[in-house]
Amino acid sequence: MKARLPRIDFSRTDAHWIPTAPELAHQLNGASLVLPYLEPFLIKAMQAARPRVAEVAPEILRDLDVFNDQEANHTRLHAAYNRVLREQYPGLERFEAEIRADFQRFTAEMPLAWNLAYSEGFESTGVVLSEFFLQEIDDLFETADPAVTELWRWHLAEEFEHRNVAHDVLKALYPGWLQRLRGFRYSGRHLFGFTSRVRAHLLAIDRERGRVRDDAAQRRAARAFEWRQRRFQLPRVAKIFMPWYSPHPRRMQEPTRQVLASYDA
Ligand SMILES: [Fe+2]
Ligand SMILES: [Fe+2]
Repeated sequence: MKARLPRIDFSRTDAHWIPTAPELAHQLNGASLVLPYLEPFLIKAMQAARPRVAEVAPEILRDLDVFNDQEANHTRLHAAYNRVLREQYPGLERFEAEIRADFQRFTAEMPLAWNLAYSEGFESTGVVLSEFFLQEIDDLFETADPAVTELWRWHLAEEFEHRNVAHDVLKALYPGWLQRLRGFRYSGRHLFGFTSRVRAHLLAIDRERGRVRDDAAQRRAARAFEWRQRRFQLPRVAKIFMPWYSPHPRRMQEPTRQVLASYDA
């Protein structure tokens, strides 16, 4: 495991970046908007846990540090992309103010166990998204913006690479199924609720601009994609609910390996 920082130029990027799946593009735009608040929150939780991890599980300290370096790099590049997103789509400031306040409150007011469970929940979801993005939907990226595609490929490949870290830290400090489950459910609802509202805002702008049709064919395509996503994700999410869930047995697949190797060469 190591931290990589690719050079990605967003100067010619169109934030309506997957023309064949605008709903997915804008859901991921919503996620990108969250990341410069969410990832620093993860890093703070890990830093707060670090002294106790050093006592009870020193063997995972190095991974914890690489995790933090990777997350810090993700935030850097997503912040650069978000500047483009904000320029092209007005009205995002109120969403950012809301999510910034949420994560400030979590860090200031919630116990470390809760923050680590939230982090673990988010990271479990990240593994599923990583597999979906890198293994299942190549056809959508044939006409997608190459810079934003690279941003997510790199990010999600590293998410897969560091899939065990938040899980191991939570397990070392606060083992217990229910707590992990609560973190998973809370983080999922919190983040999906937020990104869905951002997506609706961005799609409304696209409709005004005539870039997304609002007809039966478009709705059918959106529903078909939704089903495709559900079919892939449901069995994987079901595993996360199990008391014995662990990301360790998940093997890195070839597309993910190739993305990482392209930076390591
Ligand atoms: Fe990340
Ligand atoms: Fe992560």
